[in-house]
Amino acid sequence: MITLDLLKKIAEKHSTPCYIYDAEKIRENCRKITKAFTKYYPKTEIHYAVKANNNPAVLKIIQQEGLSADCSSPFELLAADRSGFEKSKIMYTGNYENSEDFAFATEYADTINLDDITSFVRLLNFQKPDIVSFRINPGIGRGGFEGVVTGGVDAKFGIPYEKALEAYQSGYNAGIRRFGIHMMTGSNNLEPLFFAEITDKLMHIAGSIFNKLRIVPEYVDIGGGFGIPYSDEEPEIDIEKTAELVSARFKEGCIRYNFGIPVLKLEPGRYITGNSGILLTKVTGLKKSYRNYAGVDAGMNSLLRPALYGAVHRAEAPFNTGKAEKINLCGRICENSDIFSRDVMLPELNEGDLLVFKDCGAYGYTMSSNYNGRPRPAEIVVDKESITFVRKKETAQEMLEKHFKVQNVME
Ligand code: LLP
Repeated sequence: MITLDLLKKIAEKHSTPCYIYDAEKIRENCRKITKAFTKYYPKTEIHYAVKANNNPAVLKIIQQEGLSADCSSPFELLAADRSGFEKSKIMYTGNYENSEDFAFATEYADTINLDDITSFVRLLNFQKPDIVSFRINPGIGRGGFEGVVTGGVDAKFGIPYEKALEAYQSGYNAGIRRFGIHMMTGSNNLEPLFFAEITDKLMHIAGSIFNKLRIVPEYVDIGGGFGIPYSDEEPEIDIEKTAELVSARFKEGCIRYNFGIPVLKLEPGRYITGNSGILLTKVTGLKKSYRNYAGVDAGMNSLLRPALYGAVHRAEAPFNTGKAEKINLCGRICENSDIFSRDVMLPELNEGDLLVFKDCGAYGYTMSSNYNGRPRPAEIVVDKESITFVRKKETAQEMLEKHFKVQNVME
């Protein structure tokens, strides 16, 4: 548990900004989604989307919980491998993959979800796979923000479903006899029915292709996208209901199209780690301008979601008790989009006070950068009473050494 005492200790001993993850919460999320889906369809395989949080201790917890992994880059493959995921449990889902991506994917992953027919051609030049799965764009998508919709006509991902038959035909013609099918239509969805509808759509697409080619899929992968609430008003996703509805449509499709009992795959990222993490930061300066600002030592370089999508992470000043007043929270980056939230009500703040941004366990650290030459934050995992210091905060000196290591490049 992340207690107030612990926050104080972490801030004193280590420097802020610092991501803090609660191991128990991650375990609880792994168990909840596994239990819900396997109850309705025992042959469900859950691949954690490593892109959400690739912290080594976090990956280890998820591996120990028995989940599989979905990776999207060579680094994520290496990280999954190093964290103990067996090759048979690692999947690769990329897009516009190059030969380096395929070199790593074929070495470390058991299956690859291919983003296009051209991806398949590039993979064939490299190695003929045992099993072929294409990412299908089912023509629909939905997400918490426009930037996280990954299906539909404006998405860069996947094969338009009208071309899916051609893709699988090319696989068949190349001598492939084992197949899967994949989609990922959007992130941070809270509505169970949406997942049922896209499953239904994918099953129809799969049915028409596979029945024509007289093949059956070994797996059907409906992607991730299971959301979490970021405000007091949003409800939690009813994962039990989602599992029930998805499984029902999935099983109907399997019967209608004679698929037998394929594996149902899911790729949750945010659902597993999102609500497990906070970002601890310190007020560095207070300013009364046209509006009142509190600048903090985190910024869009440490947590990009507010600047990129307009996302809001609830802020708390856990040690302040004064009268609540309106304040704008910002970082120290030289961009006006470096604003975490506008007009939030917080007790009166002073320089040096600690602030917490909630629900930062997914797409927080993994989207951080060195913009403005700022070091990436630290990461700490709290497991019951013990603290694991996983990634130290970078220092300006370390960054300098890393980037200026190569001397005399023009020689
Ligand atoms: N599988 C694939 C192929 C994906 O591209 C993604 C996320 C996932 C699974 C996991 O999705 P999740 O269950 O976490 O929704 N940076 C954004 C989220 C982008 C998601 C991109 N793909 C954010 O901060 O909200």
